[in-house]
Amino acid sequence: METRFKGKHFITEDTWTKEELDIVFDTAFDLKKKFYNEDPTLWLPYKTLFMIFFEQSTRTRNSMEAGMTQLGGHAHDLTTDKMQITHGEVAKDTAIILSRMGHGIACRNCFYGIGNKYLNEMAAHSRKPVMSLQDDVYHPFQGLADLMTIFEHFGRNTKKLKVTVSWAYANTHSKPLSVPQTQILLFPRYGIDVTVAHPKEFPLSKNIVEKAYKNAEEGGGSLKFTNNMDEAFEGAHIVIPKNWGGFGYYDEDYYLSNEEECKKEMKSNLEKYRGWICDDKRIKLADKKVKLMHALPADRGNEVTDEILDNPDISIVFDEAENRLHTAKAIMGLTM
Ligand code: CP
Repeated sequence: METRFKGKHFITEDTWTKEELDIVFDTAFDLKKKFYNEDPTLWLPYKTLFMIFFEQSTRTRNSMEAGMTQLGGHAHDLTTDKMQITHGEVAKDTAIILSRMGHGIACRNCFYGIGNKYLNEMAAHSRKPVMSLQDDVYHPFQGLADLMTIFEHFGRNTKKLKVTVSWAYANTHSKPLSVPQTQILLFPRYGIDVTVAHPKEFPLSKNIVEKAYKNAEEGGGSLKFTNNMDEAFEGAHIVIPKNWGGFGYYDEDYYLSNEEECKKEMKSNLEKYRGWICDDKRIKLADKKVKLMHALPADRGNEVTDEILDNPDISIVFDEAENRLHTAKAIMGLTM
């Protein structure tokens, strides 16, 4: 068992080298094989993970909790209303206390301008690894599952693979920027050519885009942007049509001081782009063997049609969701 990552935080892949991430992927593939063979993987017997959710979750919560059980440990499924967080207990105190009682802390806090800072504050004071279950900037576990799924369908050499990350219309809730931001930071490190499409009022954060260009230069991939969804789909090997809120349009401090006004503006901007959907017409612009990916939950009929999401020749979204389990187990097994 690899021990060099014991205690290492997992808040973004950007603090992990490519060589380190390759070990994570090797471990995830090994765990997946063992899961199907029903081989025991009791790598974390009697260990405790504290999971704190500020928001709802299906895949993240269950991949982590099932993963801990399968590794021989236990995960506490905590929400802020069950904790003194609701009464104002700060990230620092929560992290110190939980890290004295268990072996890892995982947290989802997606509030714009707050979540990533909260995670970093916990990491600064925790004796044990802190894992992000998604914040306002990054969704690192999703990024790992995405890339593992790409490796399964296209092989480990992903150089020159064309991946389109496109904003799409949805009216469920304002989704964080963290999934597309993680993808543009991570994929080009593996030689992937990423095209991002979004309406002008729905940009990604400037500092993340700048870092993603640097990652692309170092990793041999590329990154480009367009405001035209059709253009982004042309020739793509993988399309990822997904909504995100218009948070990147605002400076964090401005947003936090004018939250209601910004939310109102985001909602009215959103309604201009109902036509941004992955449908049969658009999918035909992509490569003949195109695959659809989506972190899920998908807003069916808005982000993507049922016809495409349920087409087994195109859609690999359920492989992607399943790989959340194997990658979660890899990170927990290696860091705890
Ligand atoms: N993709 C993802 O993070 O799903 P959940 O919000 O259900 O955890």
